[in-house]
Amino acid sequence: GKSGYPHFMLKEIHEQPESLRQTIHGRIETLAGKVSLEEFDAGAFEDVERVQFVSMGTSHHASMYAAAQLTARGMTANAYMAGEYADCPAPIDEHTLVVAVTQSGETADTMNAVRRARDAGARTLAVTNVVGSSVTRECDESLFIRAGPEIGVAATKTFSSQVVALTLLGERIAEDSTGVQRAAVRSLLEGLADLPGDVQQVLDESNAEGIADALYGCDSYFFLGRGPAHSVALEGALKFKEISYEHAEGFAASELKHGPLALVTENTPVFGVITGEDDLKVISNLKEVQARGAPVIVVAPASFESEVEFADYHLPIPESHPEVAGILANVQLQLVSYHAADQLGRPIDKPRNLAKSVTVE
Ligand code: M6R
Repeated sequence: GKSGYPHFMLKEIHEQPESLRQTIHGRIETLAGKVSLEEFDAGAFEDVERVQFVSMGTSHHASMYAAAQLTARGMTANAYMAGEYADCPAPIDEHTLVVAVTQSGETADTMNAVRRARDAGARTLAVTNVVGSSVTRECDESLFIRAGPEIGVAATKTFSSQVVALTLLGERIAEDSTGVQRAAVRSLLEGLADLPGDVQQVLDESNAEGIADALYGCDSYFFLGRGPAHSVALEGALKFKEISYEHAEGFAASELKHGPLALVTENTPVFGVITGEDDLKVISNLKEVQARGAPVIVVAPASFESEVEFADYHLPIPESHPEVAGILANVQLQLVSYHAADQLGRPIDKPRNLAKSVTVE
């Protein structure tokens, strides 16, 4: 049941502290500053030179997040939309690892991409929530995100768990492949260990409902981010359109001036995602849209209060590691989408025309 919540989506958003605890359980040695995945011993990926993620929708956004992290570790990593990859696969050699990211483990586009990769000789690894799902049978290896069943069509807790599981997997891959354990891994792992509590704080203190109320009935809703926060912006927009039926788009902040800025008016609220110092550049883009009359909503660590004072609204997140902060920002955006859709009276758990798992191309 919904345990007293009006919708499964809201229940699942609120389950995130617990689902994240399950995802990381036994996988982080905080004292030693090490990742320990029982499925993959140290050295399991020493032959891997490049990583290709294949996935769709929210899982694709989690994959983009992970690809950005691996790229920052000096690896060759790309996130492909599985449906496109199945038609036009990227080159593969014996050092290529193809990671299929799929909550359900049943998505047709993702399965097609996996088959193409496998036939071309790639090593294949499934990252999924569902034990015994088709993708686990098709891939050489599996890593389970352990988020528990998700009923709402909108993926929420599984995005958070995917990002965490992929972060841990990425750390294992990068260490094995490059042969060095990054000194910075300790602070990242501490950030992940603190994440369940930090998410709880966001849930307890969120001002998302009031912001959704204030921005009711606009023409379009835009979401901007850079680096890993780009994937959070795309995810924020996907969730918003999927359940509210309002037009929403996510952009890389750098993309804005190359076209989308033409759409910006006082009737197009713009959300900006800031995860840490490196993202402060997005502020100039946000000031630009504000000068054109757009309401600006910034999701940013509470400590950035003075930097984001110019914004019309601030959705604060607790202090965290920048690579973890994207997950916290996304929780704020999940709540914005939920409350916007709720005010519009949408059938939140079962949006029109959509299915929880898309088993045809
Ligand atoms: O089960 P999968 O993760 O493979 O599903 C992929 C997409 O169909 C899915 O994430 C979809 O985009 C969600 N409804 C988004 O909330």
